[in-house]
Amino acid sequence: MKGIILAAGRGTRLYPMTKPVCKPLLPVYDKPLIYYPLSVLMQAGIDQVLVIVPPGEEDTFAALLGDGSHLGMTIRYTVQPVARGIADALLIGRDFLAGDDLCLILGDNIFWAPNLADTLKHAAAGNQGATVFGCYVEDPRPFGVVEFDQSGRAISIEEKPRNPRSNYVVPGLYFYHNDALDIAASLTPSARGELEITDVNLAFLRRDQLQVIPLQDNYLWMDAGNADSLLAAAQAIHDLQQSTEQYVGCIEEIAHREGWISTQQLHKLGDELSMTAYGKHLLSL
Ligand code: G1P
Repeated sequence: MKGIILAAGRGTRLYPMTKPVCKPLLPVYDKPLIYYPLSVLMQAGIDQVLVIVPPGEEDTFAALLGDGSHLGMTIRYTVQPVARGIADALLIGRDFLAGDDLCLILGDNIFWAPNLADTLKHAAAGNQGATVFGCYVEDPRPFGVVEFDQSGRAISIEEKPRNPRSNYVVPGLYFYHNDALDIAASLTPSARGELEITDVNLAFLRRDQLQVIPLQDNYLWMDAGNADSLLAAAQAIHDLQQSTEQYVGCIEEIAHREGWISTQQLHKLGDELSMTAYGKHLLSL
């Protein structure tokens, strides 16, 4: 299984901050936003990742993450020429995927849960078609909304419904069989002119190949789309790290835990950042 991070939005709701700097490179407390979705893919055991960036931005992302070899990974970059929707990422990723299954995550989504790595690896291993998650929110209207029957099976998904049928929404994290690429290729743009990821999920639902895993209590899911949510995300990460004494989105630590880099390599990465609490944390490992 390979990973794709869709990080191609211009981040206009964060102007002027995102005029010179792409949203996924902005800080969320003590690390760049993109560390969080990248860490999610890594915790799913994925070490080959394609990052889809806005036109002309490959070098700025590469300046941060390089080719991934320092993490024992492969990281590639490509552009989304026109903002055509989330499902477009599946079309852009076709050559990179080379027939493999995939996990797609949005570049501004932050997840944390005590046993997230287990949940993700389980989802990846058990995926038959599409596996997504369900998060309870007070106002589901801006999202893809999933409805369950009494046995807990997903029976409908609607994108940004006026009258939502439940309070469960699908966050920006999707495990797909490679068939998703052909499904995406057959889509027509929605009223907002986008290839909707909800339509891909609906196609799997109709085939009876969609699994929706409701996230249980004590998890965090946030996107960092505007100034308020960026601030709230930074505060939430700060508070979590203080209370759990663990680091969220610590890609070097995860690479070491997954066995992709040696203790010596981890020490070198910590050394380079030893002037920060983050670097000191790496060295303490
Ligand atoms: C997108 C998807 C939606 C999903 C959401 C999660 O919304 O279309 O189904 O629930 O991401 O963040 P958008 O960011 O396009 O408004």
